[in-house]
Amino acid sequence: MKSKSKKYIIAITTCIVFTLTLISVVSGRPFRLGRLPDKGESFGCGTCHENPKGGGKRNDFGEDWRNIAMKSGDRYVDELAKLDSDKDGYTNDKEFAANTHPGDPKSKPEGINDPIAEVIAKGKALFNDTKLGTTGTSCNSCHPNGETTGGQMMDMKIPTLKGAAATFPKFKESAKRVITLSMMNNMCISMIMEGKSLKLDSEEMVALTTYVTSLSNNEKIKVGDGK
Ligand code: HEC
Ligand code: HEC
Repeated sequence: MKSKSKKYIIAITTCIVFTLTLISVVSGRPFRLGRLPDKGESFGCGTCHENPKGGGKRNDFGEDWRNIAMKSGDRYVDELAKLDSDKDGYTNDKEFAANTHPGDPKSKPEGINDPIAEVIAKGKALFNDTKLGTTGTSCNSCHPNGETTGGQMMDMKIPTLKGAAATFPKFKESAKRVITLSMMNNMCISMIMEGKSLKLDSEEMVALTTYVTSLSNNEKIKVGDGK
């Protein structure tokens, strides 16, 4: 009797383990769909697997998922978002934003192939953003569309920024040194708008400087010109 019930328990246990394994193989791991930024709406199981029905071989994104996401509780973490799993020039985040496939290099976003245009647009948005300072003004309040209100600030004339970038780097009396355009932008942010200086190599400053520089397109460079 004792050994019989032991056998019985083993049989049941085996059965349960087998069923669970079967369920997990047959149903796959559908929970992962819900972990994707688009909930798997664009490519389903095929977001990570070569077979669109799931299971089996994984594509490059699926492999990165296994190596990175699974270490963080099966989550789409920042590190994975910033990777370009299929090496087509677009990060996984950009691919999800454009509904293109993060694991297929032949599928990539159209229309944002011009990184300069993208950064200039971002810089222009910052130029109009009062959040850079604490005085309720944006760059655009004094330099409307990159030009000048014609007004004055303290005892300084507000200059137009058309052509300004072509005169940098230059000596600034108020800084008592030669400064770059980005440092000048920071002077307006910190001294005039009473905001926090941006890190010179931050995405924001690169965007702002790219926009301000674009206002000098086709100008001849005259380093140090003007005050
Ligand atoms: C976010 C990425 C991702 C999605 C979406 C995804 N899987 Fe997977 N899948 C994996 C990873 C990584 C593994 C390997 C690790 C594991 O076994 O859990 C895997 C393993 C599997 C396995 C196990 C054995 C094997 O064949 O390698 C099956 C079955 C499976 N997935 C089915 C599916 C099905 C069905 C779907 C859609 C409902 C799906 N998966 C969606 C990433 C994904
Ligand atoms: C409240 C008005 C005001 C605001 C807001 C302002 N500026 Fe200025 N800006 C000035 C004044 C005044 C000068 C001249 C300062 C000087 O010569 O030292 C100037 C100078 C500059 C110059 C140098 C131009 C040249 O030819 O040397 C640049 C570049 C510039 N601003 C960019 C910006 C940017 C970018 C912002 C927003 C982050 C901004 N400014 C916000 C008033 C402003």
